[in-house]
Amino acid sequence: MLKLKKKTASLLSEAVEKLFGEGLLSSDEIFEMLEYPPDRSMGDIALPCFRLSKALRKAPPVIASSLATEISCDEFSEINAMGGYLNFKISPTAFAARVVSDIDASGDKYGSPMTGEGKTVVLDYSSPNVAKPFHIGHLGTTVIGHSLKLLHEFAGYKCVGINYLGDWGTQFGKLIVAYKRWGNKEVIEEGGVDELVKLYVKINNAIKEEEEASLLKNPDAKASSALGDESRKEFTKLEHGDEENLELWRWFVSVSLAEYEKTYKMLGISFDSYKGESFYTDKMPAQVEKLRNMGLLEIDDGASIVNLDKWNMPVCLILKRDGSTLYPTRDIAAAVYRKGEYNFDKAIYVTSAAQSLHFAQWFKVVELMGYDWYDKLVHVPYGTVSINGAKLATRTGNVILLRDLFDEAIKRVYEITKEKHPDEAECREISEKVGVGAVIFYYLSNNRIRDINFVMEEALSFDGNTGPYVQYTYARTCSILEKAGEKGKMTDAPLTEVEFELAKTLSIFPERIKSAIADYEPSVVTRYILDLAAAFNRFYHDCKIAACEDEKLRSSRLALTAATSQVLKTALKLICMQTPEKI
Ligand code: ARG
Repeated sequence: MLKLKKKTASLLSEAVEKLFGEGLLSSDEIFEMLEYPPDRSMGDIALPCFRLSKALRKAPPVIASSLATEISCDEFSEINAMGGYLNFKISPTAFAARVVSDIDASGDKYGSPMTGEGKTVVLDYSSPNVAKPFHIGHLGTTVIGHSLKLLHEFAGYKCVGINYLGDWGTQFGKLIVAYKRWGNKEVIEEGGVDELVKLYVKINNAIKEEEEASLLKNPDAKASSALGDESRKEFTKLEHGDEENLELWRWFVSVSLAEYEKTYKMLGISFDSYKGESFYTDKMPAQVEKLRNMGLLEIDDGASIVNLDKWNMPVCLILKRDGSTLYPTRDIAAAVYRKGEYNFDKAIYVTSAAQSLHFAQWFKVVELMGYDWYDKLVHVPYGTVSINGAKLATRTGNVILLRDLFDEAIKRVYEITKEKHPDEAECREISEKVGVGAVIFYYLSNNRIRDINFVMEEALSFDGNTGPYVQYTYARTCSILEKAGEKGKMTDAPLTEVEFELAKTLSIFPERIKSAIADYEPSVVTRYILDLAAAFNRFYHDCKIAACEDEKLRSSRLALTAATSQVLKTALKLICMQTPEKI
């Protein structure tokens, strides 16, 4: 559509020049004025001539009718002046032929804006905290982050996906104490991260109990806990390179990672770097030094902070009273390192909206430090996820693990699929693709910033606007083409309204991709997939495709089906969805 709109604008500007004189209106200016009329009986593209009348010093209806006689183009079946409007009616056959030939020529690159060539984007996403549960709160950062990576890759950017693992901090002191006290190597090797989480929960509860008991005994003193003190000591030992603790820490990280990787594998996600928080320990002092030398640090109740009053933000904490570093300190050091390592043109951070202030603060600090790339940092926030009722089994109290959410979806699809697919392995494979896809699609159907209540029944329904429905539509295109044994090609057979609508929907894919990237919003792609599936299913119900008696029409319809198949596949992959050819 965009191409035709551009072409129309350039034809119009030539006509204006010829009729009214040179240099009055550029093709770009006219392009901005063109509209898509809401009522198609008027036309597919329209130029309201009211805004031209000032520049051309003529009444709008006069402008419209003189332009109407001047322009001719075989992509339009009619060009009419109506009041102050100039209306263009597109010829469905010519239009569809051009769209399909574009899709054919570009193949799986169709829709790519190629704006990223020669540029690098670094994406920081997923980033769970080791030995803490990988739960549904991470669904957003994981799938939005990965979709944004795929979208940028599609646009030609070189992308670096970073899993900034939360692999450092006082929680490791606690975990070391808990393990030494209650842990068992075999149990953890067997049970993985769940066992680490259990230990972590156990020690936190024990510390809390001790603190409460201490307050009962001595209400005026600060709460104290021997286990808490011991944990801090173990963490300090770890920080100073104690070999025994380091070895335990490495083991905890690898046990956790092995678990996360199972989920990533299911989602088809891999990372280019797993440099977690621990990696930046020795990179922070230089940044703290720089802050101090620039006079940006202030001491506030013993802590070192950057005052952000002028920007209406609370202070950004750099060092605690005891000199230990904080979350922003680490993020600043990591950004500096990544700039040096990758020389990014954009660094994207995908986290829950709860962290928006944190990012706004340290982005500002980076700017104050004089790093001229501060404006290349982008925070992409998303809303919260809740689950309807407590129907999903969880093993760790009240949080719902990401893995359990996917497993539940897969199990339910399996129950439905097994009647149709007696072959066990095939059934498993389809269930996994459809179950995982259903969760992703449901999640990415909403604007990322909205809070979502997850309803499994809705996500899995085959007849709503769901993942299973769109994957099924894709499988339908595959089976039509397979049965027909050919992909057809566009002919001059006259096409009807439904085919034209389908072609138009296919033609707007590139525009949608552009806005998905510009707004960091994968849901634009999800909604496009729904539009395309709806247009295709209308076509499928109204028109005979492989069974069409007219040879030429059959060929055009098969070509439209093949083009739809291709675009659906590209679009689904961009939002981390699999595209099974059979369901
Ligand atoms: N590990 C953090 C969490 O789970 C997310 C890290 C986000 N990335 C960053 N560079 N701060 O909350």
